[in-house]
Amino acid sequence: MESLIGKVAENLLKHRNTVALTGAGISVESGIPPFRGKGGLWEKFDPMEYAHIDAFIKDPQKVWNVLLKGMKELLDQAVPNDGHKGLVRLEHLGILQTVITQNVDGLHQKAGSSDVIEFHGSFARYRCMACSRCRCSEKMDLSCIPPRCDCGGVFKPEIVFFGEMISTEQLLRSRQAAEGCGLMLVVGTSATVQPAAFMPVIAKESGATVVEINPEPTWLTGNISDYFIRGAAGDVMNRILAELERRM
Ligand code: OAD
Repeated sequence: MESLIGKVAENLLKHRNTVALTGAGISVESGIPPFRGKGGLWEKFDPMEYAHIDAFIKDPQKVWNVLLKGMKELLDQAVPNDGHKGLVRLEHLGILQTVITQNVDGLHQKAGSSDVIEFHGSFARYRCMACSRCRCSEKMDLSCIPPRCDCGGVFKPEIVFFGEMISTEQLLRSRQAAEGCGLMLVVGTSATVQPAAFMPVIAKESGATVVEINPEPTWLTGNISDYFIRGAAGDVMNRILAELERRM
């Protein structure tokens, strides 16, 4: 394990144009459950019944009551962990440029990352389905479910539901970041949802070194990843940073 950490530290020092792709796993140590695997959200809720845009349009009250209200309350309380903080430290060391995240929890920004591409949107903003007015999280009143705009329309968090398009801007920026990086750190994602899961492939095909951090292997492991560090994001990031700082 230590020689693996040493190799990754060496590569990070070499590639000062690193990009991170993160998934739900990086926020597990902040108390936010992942989607898949043991204890995952999709074990309890059928995503087609609660996370598909058609389900939301058909019955927003049900989706708000069963999934969104609890999620908003959980995310409002959550604080960044050593995984998020480690990426900020990498940015301050002049190694990491951009974080592409599939997460909607805003924890990279809370930790202090300055360039975050929110691939699947964010729970920090809500948009009225009728008039498109935007409202920030702090101003959302959840005493009545579903929350409604002054025009009577229902508010939907600006997250990408199944059946919805990824914003073209986020997609183009992510592809550009993946094509231009020298190293991609893939942290805490099962890499099962496209097109986000394709970013490491683009990075690899463009000549980047791909480093994966995850307690479990994924389809990227052994196919796309040059290095696989098995473990929890916070612990692994702390070890990498200790090694980097020893070498600097
Ligand atoms: P998943 O829930 O699919 O995968 C979470 C990954 O994190 C798994 O590979 C776990 O092994 C790993 N993991 C668990 N604990 C960890 C820890 N402490 N440190 C590091 N890794 C850990 O989450 P995503 O890959 O993010 O989409 O899922 C992708 C998308 O699927 C989500 O953005 C969401 C979901 O449907 C939308 O909401 C559109």
